[in-house]
Amino acid sequence: MAESMSGLARSHRCTEVSNKLIGTEVTVMGWVQKRRNLGSLIFVDLRDRSGILQLVFDQEVLSEEDYNKANSLRSEYVVAAVGTVEKRSAAINENLKTGDIEIKVHTLRILSESETPPFPIDEKQTVKDELRLKYRYLDLRRPNLQRNLRIRNDVTRMVRNFLGDEGFLEIETPVLGKSTPEGARDYLVPSRVHPGEFYGLPQSPQLFKQLLMCSGFDRYYQIAKCFRDEDLRADRQPEFTQIDMELSFVDVDDVIDVNERLLKKIFKEVLDIDVQLPMLRMTYKEAMDRFGSDKPDMRFGMELTNVSDTVAGCDFMVFKGALENGGSVRGLNAKGLGDLGRKKIDGFVDYAKDFGAKGLAYIQLKSDGTVKSSFAKFMKEEEMDALIKAMDGQAGDLLLFAADKDKVVFDVLGNLRLHIAKQYDMIDKSQYKFLWVTEFPLLEWSDEQNRYTAMHHPFTMPFEEDLEFIDERPGDVRAKAYDIVLNGTELGGGSIRIHQDDIQEKMFEALGFTKEDAYNRFGFLLDAFKFGVPPHAGLAYGLDRLVMWLTGEDSIRDVIAFPKVKDASCLMTQAPGPVDTLQLEELGIELSTPEEE
Ligand code: AMO
Ligand code: AMP
Repeated sequence: MAESMSGLARSHRCTEVSNKLIGTEVTVMGWVQKRRNLGSLIFVDLRDRSGILQLVFDQEVLSEEDYNKANSLRSEYVVAAVGTVEKRSAAINENLKTGDIEIKVHTLRILSESETPPFPIDEKQTVKDELRLKYRYLDLRRPNLQRNLRIRNDVTRMVRNFLGDEGFLEIETPVLGKSTPEGARDYLVPSRVHPGEFYGLPQSPQLFKQLLMCSGFDRYYQIAKCFRDEDLRADRQPEFTQIDMELSFVDVDDVIDVNERLLKKIFKEVLDIDVQLPMLRMTYKEAMDRFGSDKPDMRFGMELTNVSDTVAGCDFMVFKGALENGGSVRGLNAKGLGDLGRKKIDGFVDYAKDFGAKGLAYIQLKSDGTVKSSFAKFMKEEEMDALIKAMDGQAGDLLLFAADKDKVVFDVLGNLRLHIAKQYDMIDKSQYKFLWVTEFPLLEWSDEQNRYTAMHHPFTMPFEEDLEFIDERPGDVRAKAYDIVLNGTELGGGSIRIHQDDIQEKMFEALGFTKEDAYNRFGFLLDAFKFGVPPHAGLAYGLDRLVMWLTGEDSIRDVIAFPKVKDASCLMTQAPGPVDTLQLEELGIELSTPEEE
């Protein structure tokens, strides 16, 4: 039976009650974590978002009715209790903030009862993801998720305060808009008023924030919901949140400076970590050459070595063929793994194949001095010696080589480097290694679209000095784009924008857009630029990814209140779902009959 709370007012959250209040009366409200009966005493752990507080019900003091009521309490009942703060009669619990006190209750109300929850509200229990997400409102009662969302709130507050102090204005931009050119698939919303036409949900506020610069707002930010219909992974959700900003009259260093100070503040306040400024910077080219990745995890070494020159003269077809095709041969030295068994090494080969490798050549330098290799028979002895030397191979090391086009070699070795480091515990988890990756290529070739596409977006400024070869070697033109990387995750990215028509025209040309195409898609921006556009630049963080690192979670799902699963559905609300025929008719939409399975 649910009672009303009328006449009662909560005086404290559970852990706001402390031994300073001993002897005073408090009114607390929350959920029953558990009940224990000890003779004539009943102990109840009461939980609210602040933590746990012990209530005691004493048979000798309470009316029979009240004592029976206390005895009927079960997990997750919602109760209000009024009583006196006392020093704990039984053992002090060092693990609890309120472990030295308890509330001797004289009045108890059951505000609502609870069925037995599908899983205990306790972070120590491992619960299947499907169940957690179906009952997300219960999952969210667990202390770790409560903590994660509190940290998320702390971060957005800090961002607002910091950017506000730095002269940024928070401005909202539309969610119903035209599709934005961020490269993923758009979520579309049909228009009722304009049958056959659609809004695109924003992949980011990119175009609007550039327009705000045209309007003279100078420094803008927004904590913005973004939508991208792409395949989900641990660090990707179909809707996610960006801390998005744009600044006028700035260059790369200005954007980096304000963001370094912002990150420093956040990591100090949330984790009490002193981030050293300035942060490390590395060009895209160096990051690829050394780590095979544009978001290298710098918490461990195992860097790539380019051995193309060393193996240039050899007859091993795998190496020779790759070099003849304009590719490269590069290796990893997995120090200390030279004595691994065949199965383990085959595992690496299979892993490499998942990333497009045709194979993975290896040399095992066993600790007993013997050498085992998958390709020694194709090489002269001095060629092998030179290769081992180039790799700084010592007894006990495992040398792994990929030979292919650069793109494949980097992808294979970059991922293998991470895979091996994780598998053999080579990563110091206590470290936070920030890195700015700069000078990204402006364009990348897309086999799918059979043309160059913008690596960041079409409004990203190229290096002026590279423009002279944009027609001959478009792939070599560098962009004034930068990413902020933390421990191998791309936290955020941005760029200096093009504000000159002639450069923008060149860019559209390089992307294979006609003037007409460009106008159809971004005409409003190009028009705006005709009326006085300041030089401008910006950056956006994935807020979810940032909070994931701050909370130490492995998935952004654990820092989002109501996340979606891999197939982009919500297990709790069952979204997406079918709609009424009437709704479809209003929108002028007819469904093609699904094929019979
Ligand atoms: P970009 O596309 O790099 O840049 O996105 C910025 C940051 O957003 C995060 N992010 C995601 N987080 C979770 N789930 C996703 N599906 C997802 N996609 C991206 C990443 C990424 O670094 N408008 C530009 C920014 C700019 O140029 O100012 C933009 O959106 O952490
Ligand atoms: P094969 O001549 O195909 O038997 O290959 C000899 C060795 O080279 C095997 O260990 C293969 O896994 C390896 N290998 C094949 N293709 C490549 C490649 N593209 N890069 C590196 N190693 C390869």
